[in-house]
Amino acid sequence: MRSDYCGEINASKVGAEVAVCGWVHRRRDHGGVIFLDLRDRTGIVQVVYDPDTVESFALADSVRNEYVLRAKGRVRARPEGTVNPDMTTGEIEILGLELEILNVAQTPPFQLDQHSEAGEDVRLRYRYMDLRRPEMQNRMRMRAAIASQTRRYLEENGYWEVETPTLSRATPEGARDYLVPSRTHPGQFFALPQSPQVYKQLLMMSGMDKYYQIARCYRDEDLRADRQPEFTQIDIEASFISQQQVMELTEGLLRGLFADFLDIDLGDFPVLSWDEAMRDFGSDRPDLRNPLRLTDIADLLRDVEFKVFSGPANDAQGRVVALRAPGAAALPRRVIDELTEFVSRYGAKGLAYIKVNDLKTGYDGLQSPILKFLPEEVTLAILERVGAQDGDVVFFGADQAKVVNDSMGALRDELGERMDVIAAGYAPCWVVNFPMFAANKDGTLGAEHHPFTQPTCTPEELLAKPLEAYAAAYDVVVNGSEIGGGSLRIHDQKMQSAVFEALQMGQEAQAKFGFLLDALQYGCPPHGGIAFGLDRLVMLMTQTESIRDVIAFPKTQTAACLMMSAPNEVDEHQLRDLHIRVRKPTQTAV
Ligand code: AMO
Ligand code: AMP
Repeated sequence: MRSDYCGEINASKVGAEVAVCGWVHRRRDHGGVIFLDLRDRTGIVQVVYDPDTVESFALADSVRNEYVLRAKGRVRARPEGTVNPDMTTGEIEILGLELEILNVAQTPPFQLDQHSEAGEDVRLRYRYMDLRRPEMQNRMRMRAAIASQTRRYLEENGYWEVETPTLSRATPEGARDYLVPSRTHPGQFFALPQSPQVYKQLLMMSGMDKYYQIARCYRDEDLRADRQPEFTQIDIEASFISQQQVMELTEGLLRGLFADFLDIDLGDFPVLSWDEAMRDFGSDRPDLRNPLRLTDIADLLRDVEFKVFSGPANDAQGRVVALRAPGAAALPRRVIDELTEFVSRYGAKGLAYIKVNDLKTGYDGLQSPILKFLPEEVTLAILERVGAQDGDVVFFGADQAKVVNDSMGALRDELGERMDVIAAGYAPCWVVNFPMFAANKDGTLGAEHHPFTQPTCTPEELLAKPLEAYAAAYDVVVNGSEIGGGSLRIHDQKMQSAVFEALQMGQEAQAKFGFLLDALQYGCPPHGGIAFGLDRLVMLMTQTESIRDVIAFPKTQTAACLMMSAPNEVDEHQLRDLHIRVRKPTQTAV
């Protein structure tokens, strides 16, 4: 139907006859001459119809936005003064000779170039319109190119793509499962995989040696700007491989993608231990573009009378930190109140601070509601430790370590934004050596990564002091976003059983993962791997704030598809086939 794509016609084609197909982006009537901006996925080209071509002119006059056309004409240079340097086709136009309307369109629910004024609900309902926007098409193109280069890279490195089932059983990534009822097994359900974790380990036990898959994962969890209920992983696993080798392989993948698509050299990724990350950033996914740091000061505060500080300073589970914010003394009081409210969302009971007005005058040059509670030498020692200077504010967090890390880590991000000190560009890092377990609120243990991660101690040590055990787990973090995570895996049945025991999963483990415990006894190679969130990677590389903007057909914040109205109710006979009787939530009184 066509000889060229709209966006690819340039001055080299002047004089040639072309046929293009696309959508009417805009139609303008300039005193007897009609200009049609015709759009396809490559861009926009201007087609001009004048009244000499009577029939085509009349058709051109009748078209409306988003009509689908086939236009034939001759490429010519635009007249002097009408060249548009913002368009790739801005030096030329097509003098229309023929026109065919391939399809008409109703008035669009929103103008494509005014999409931001249409609510996201409208855009999601008419997703096929929203996806016509050049930004969306660019993101989809980038996504396809990233996936394609990833495949090539992994294949060149000897990885085989193997597909694993999506009708499966519960997998241990810690979210709720999406369940699928079985017709042939009344009362039984498949679970959609939260990741291919167990399958990829079984593939190592099957001798596949190197596996990858661009795999769909399903997690029923609270959604955020960077989470979707179904998302895509670049999933990787290899046998007889070290942690260092997994890290080198995947660093190479990321470096190549950033170099080839963005012309950015990511350099060598700094490696932080989990302990260091928590110490300096209060977070296991630190944004290294932000220069602010947390500083431990508990040792200076053990003997002060101010209980807010001395309590946590003397508690093994407590933590007291200072966060120096250069230049923040200029912030109005109102902002400090807002920040106090901000940290309270993370459980902090207050936000003590010291304003440093004039250090030359010593104690007198400071301003703070807590000065009266602290001995002068302690205050000065704190200021010295954090390197405070005139014009700074030093903020304090004192509480259980988790509360301090959550609240002061978040404050570090918030201050970084508000004070505009976050550097441009990309700052990747590895966070390694995670704790094996974290304590749940009820005192039970949960796996920090997942229960197949290799602890770095013996099974006996693990069971004796589980909260002190570390794991050969590693995450890739870029600009504060966790884009990938992996680990070396347990390949020893005794260790795997010890982990299940520590998680108090004895009986349950046998029922759920008996097949894995069995498989470990039939010659399991040492193995390890990693998975990247493809959606998050594309978000990062296209500088997109919402994960919905890099997925063709995403779900809303309440995990629904507005376009297809999914999920939806099904016929009674379908439910009957599946042996299901629906129990609706009882209406709560308003
Ligand atoms: P993990 O649970 O850390 O590890 O997931 C790996 C990566 O997947 C991305 N991700 C998500 N992206 C969008 N929406 C979500 N709801 C979502 N959840 C996770 C993140 C994350 O870093 N099987 C292990 C990997 C392994 O050990 O090899 C796993 O799934 O970018
Ligand atoms: P209070 O003794 O509760 O009046 O607190 C005195 C100062 O310490 C106030 O500025 C509070 O915001 C601050 N503060 C109280 N609790 C904490 C805490 N857990 N961490 C940091 N600062 C706190």
